[in-house]
Amino acid sequence: MEGDASSTATSSSSSTSMEPQMMTTHSQHFFGGPSRPDALSVTIIQVMREDYGMFTWPSSVVLAEYVWQQRAHFSGRTVIELGAGTALPGLVAAKVGADVILTDSSNRPEILDNMRQTCDLNKVNCKIMGLTWGEWDAGFCSLNPQIVLGADVLYDSSDFEDLFASVTFLLRSTPGSIFITAYHNRSGHHLVEYLMVKWGLKCVKLLDAFSFMPASKASTLQGNFELIEVKLDSDLVKGHSQKPIKM
Ligand SMILES: C[S@@+](CC[C@H](N)C(=O)[O-])C[C@H]1O[C@@H](n2cnc3c(N)ncnc32)[C@H](O)[C@@H]1O
Repeated sequence: MEGDASSTATSSSSSTSMEPQMMTTHSQHFFGGPSRPDALSVTIIQVMREDYGMFTWPSSVVLAEYVWQQRAHFSGRTVIELGAGTALPGLVAAKVGADVILTDSSNRPEILDNMRQTCDLNKVNCKIMGLTWGEWDAGFCSLNPQIVLGADVLYDSSDFEDLFASVTFLLRSTPGSIFITAYHNRSGHHLVEYLMVKWGLKCVKLLDAFSFMPASKASTLQGNFELIEVKLDSDLVKGHSQKPIKM
């Protein structure tokens, strides 16, 4: 575990191009201690209202920290973030050298617009696209990510089938690829385990967030946060010959 200090500073302003009356805040997230030459920070634009995709959920902080700690495995990879919202994990992946596609529901242009502004603010060049789980179009079918990320995408069980359908399609598109997701485990894994079996997926790593989060970030988490790495079962049985992704 890397004991990197991290903190979040918040400043507020009162306008967005979308809805002038909304309160926007800029929160800053740090990775690596100040003495490290490779330390980085990411500034996130959040809109303070009760809306799933417009502020940074704790699972995103967990997944972003994991990306930072595993940065050697992200550099040079093609990464897609599903249900990215404010996209902290994807932005960290981009900052450590991954080729990143940030996605959220096609029906939520304001989230995609916020992502664009956040990428500009952080001077990172990510592709941004609408991707609704369980929906197929030419753009989706031509993606070949090596790493699929998702933070707090396992929160509404009525979406699980669609999410797993999209994740499985993406994993099949690139042999050896991996899905990494962090989530707030509120009610156990039974449905997730059932769906993994149904879709031919296997959990290859399960981590308690507190086992790798620096103390300063862990102290902000309330509840049980876990991170899993998931692969196609068939990749594990056969062994994949093309560019295996070792994490
Ligand atoms: C709980 S939020 C998590 C946002 C972000 N990943 C985070 O952790 O801060 C869930 C995200 O999934 C997106 N989402 C929900 N249903 C979706 C669907 N059917 N297709 C694509 N995205 C969806 C929401 O718009 C939202 O951004």
